[in-house]
Amino acid sequence: MNAPLGGIWLWLPLLLTWLTPEVNSSWWACSQGEVKSCSCDPKKMGSAKDSKGIFDWGGCSDNIDYGIKFARAFVDAKERKGKDARALMNLHNNRAGRKAVKRFLKQECKCHGVSGSCTLRTCWLAMADFRKTGDYLWRKYNGAIQVVMNQDGTGFTVANERFKKPTKNDLVYFENSPDYCIRDREAGSLGTAGRVCNLTSRGMDSCEVMCCGRGYDTSHVTRMTKCGCKFHWCCAVRCQDCLEALDVHTCKAPKNADWTTAT
Ligand SMILES: *[C@@H]1O[C@H](CO)[C@@H](O)[C@H](O)[C@H]1NC(C)=O
Repeated sequence: MNAPLGGIWLWLPLLLTWLTPEVNSSWWACSQGEVKSCSCDPKKMGSAKDSKGIFDWGGCSDNIDYGIKFARAFVDAKERKGKDARALMNLHNNRAGRKAVKRFLKQECKCHGVSGSCTLRTCWLAMADFRKTGDYLWRKYNGAIQVVMNQDGTGFTVANERFKKPTKNDLVYFENSPDYCIRDREAGSLGTAGRVCNLTSRGMDSCEVMCCGRGYDTSHVTRMTKCGCKFHWCCAVRCQDCLEALDVHTCKAPKNADWTTAT
């Protein structure tokens, strides 16, 4: 599997920064109209027009431009020191990440007027549900484009000319990720031998994908679980112990490789 891990891991902290209360609270409180001295977007004032007609900017719009500037200064700082391929790649992916966040900024409106007739509308811009941005980035991650440094080392071009050139929205990478199927300590890959897989899943955790076509072993195990739990007034939950039998599937090791000894 090819993956621009370096980039992802560098801008993930930035996205998480937005989710942590300290940084996010002013914006959050902002769009909820809870605080006066928040960093609302000063450009979203007065009236404006969209496909449904004229509306007033109201409440407080998430100040995405401020957030983006902050993120650029904060996350890109490390990469600006070096001028190697990795730094170039990370700067590109950081920007693509920021653009993704901005892409899903959405306009929310509230209708006023006689019984909500919407003769008067106030709107504001709000950050989208984070899941939406995440799904979008996951697709970009899976479609990341391999690039090579250009001659003078100032940028990069697509590695295989049969593929499309990366746009500013695409994620890029220089090197293939290690083969996660095989144990390679130097590359930080533990391999998947011995991993528990899911026989009914069709995703990454399925026995087919996770075991990389090597097959799996099945063992029958019984385990103790809590069952028949009842709530007793007040306040305790009492359960019975039940024995549960289930099959556990684990990935086979590659043939003629002594992965068990290489700890
Ligand atoms: C296995 O995969 C199925 C289908 O995706 C899912 O419903 C189930 O919860 C999974 N089981 C475990 C133990 O993760």
